[in-house]
Amino acid sequence: MQHDIAHIGLSEQGHLRIEWAARRMPVLAAIRERFEDEKPLAGYRIGACMHVTSETANLMMTLVAGGAQVALCASNPLSTQDDVAAALVDAGIPVFAVRGEDAETFYEHISAVLDTEPHLIFDDGADMTTVLHQERREQPVLGGMEETTTGVIRLKAMADDGVLRFPVVAVNDSDTKHLFDNRHGTGQSSLDGILRAANLLFAGKKVVVAGYGDCGWGIATRAKGMGADVIVTEVDPIRAVAAAMEGHRVMSGSEAAEVGDVFITATGNIRVFRGEHFEKMKDNAVVANAGHFDVELDLEALSEMATSRRIIRDNLEEFTLPDGRRILVVAEGRLVNLGAAEGHPADVMDLSFSDQAIAAEWLVQNGEQLDPKVYRLPAELDEEVARLKLEAMDGSLEPLTDEQVDYLASWQHGT
Ligand SMILES: NC(=O)c1ccc[n+]([C@@H]2O[C@H](COP(=O)([O-])OP(=O)(O)OC[C@H]3O[C@@H](n4cnc5c(N)ncnc54)[C@H](O)[C@@H]3O)[C@@H](O)[C@H]2O)c1
Repeated sequence: MQHDIAHIGLSEQGHLRIEWAARRMPVLAAIRERFEDEKPLAGYRIGACMHVTSETANLMMTLVAGGAQVALCASNPLSTQDDVAAALVDAGIPVFAVRGEDAETFYEHISAVLDTEPHLIFDDGADMTTVLHQERREQPVLGGMEETTTGVIRLKAMADDGVLRFPVVAVNDSDTKHLFDNRHGTGQSSLDGILRAANLLFAGKKVVVAGYGDCGWGIATRAKGMGADVIVTEVDPIRAVAAAMEGHRVMSGSEAAEVGDVFITATGNIRVFRGEHFEKMKDNAVVANAGHFDVELDLEALSEMATSRRIIRDNLEEFTLPDGRRILVVAEGRLVNLGAAEGHPADVMDLSFSDQAIAAEWLVQNGEQLDPKVYRLPAELDEEVARLKLEAMDGSLEPLTDEQVDYLASWQHGT
């Protein structure tokens, strides 16, 4: 009996992956069941620009269950799971994505989805919304959903410049998204990506985490749990103190460059580690990026400094510097968890993608009344997703007594 699934067809492998993810997405499954009955998205075309993974496949199928017509392309050239794309096509959902596609193809794919004239846009990094605006497409759009911090920042900039044409829900900003996906999802899966690419031992390593936001918190916490000596670099004094009080050392980038064994960026900012840092890094330093765009590591500078480069393992490229030191870059400096591993586990995407599905329903109900701005989902929808997840995790809430409700609402008490 064979113990791997390499012998079965691509789309069959994709179907198995999608089924495996579905088992760990109970909240999304409950929404899908309700959508099947109520068809809240009937008559709507959806264009999605998201990582083509097994979890996204489950979201797309939920939207289809709700009555929508869906077309999908990738939000990163290196994150597509080709078997999942094949399985989705097999299930009747058009997918424009292939792992490793070049920049030109990546944008052609976004345009192909926009050509389907979607009423709703699901973005992860705001690329589809940006292309629609840059190409001055006149097609009417009811609204959009944005999955990640970097996308929310871009969309707010568009709204501030007065160019955003439709309302967008910042799904990233829902508590049931960023407090779990960015922290626990990115924390675990970024280390997973580095482990798969480099197979190194975290215990005893000096791991430098650039940026101590939600993602950085997750990465630092997990690395510490695996025995690493964590060093944080930050530009924000409050976040820096938060890192210090978690027991991490806080240093400037140049100080950290001299001592780190592994470097992971999670800032959403540009050229966080650049020539001046590569100059100081130790032989065999491993560098990876968990932020949305591949701009956090200045790989142009590293290529110019290097006398040679070679792929030494899957998703691991070695750059040799004139003095013989070697710097190892994971997954071309693109999102390490998606480039070198499988992205966030389904258990946490259950929350993010339940938020996405509910956001689409909310936009269909409210979109016409909204301004072209960035909105947060109402808190009660956030709480409802958390309630369902808690139930699925066999947890239960403590109910407030009537006396406690009164006590919390009154100011006339004290000693
Ligand atoms: N890999 C994934 O799957 C995944 C998941 C969620 C978010 N993201 C992306 O990760 C990035 C970070 O997201 P977040 O939610 O943690 O954002 P955040 O805003 O909560 O945190 C970013 C932190 O980086 C700090 N920072 C900015 N410039 C810096 C610099 N030059 N050096 C050091 N620190 C710096 C900021 O002060 C901030 O504390 C974004 O690009 C986001 O889109 C990736």
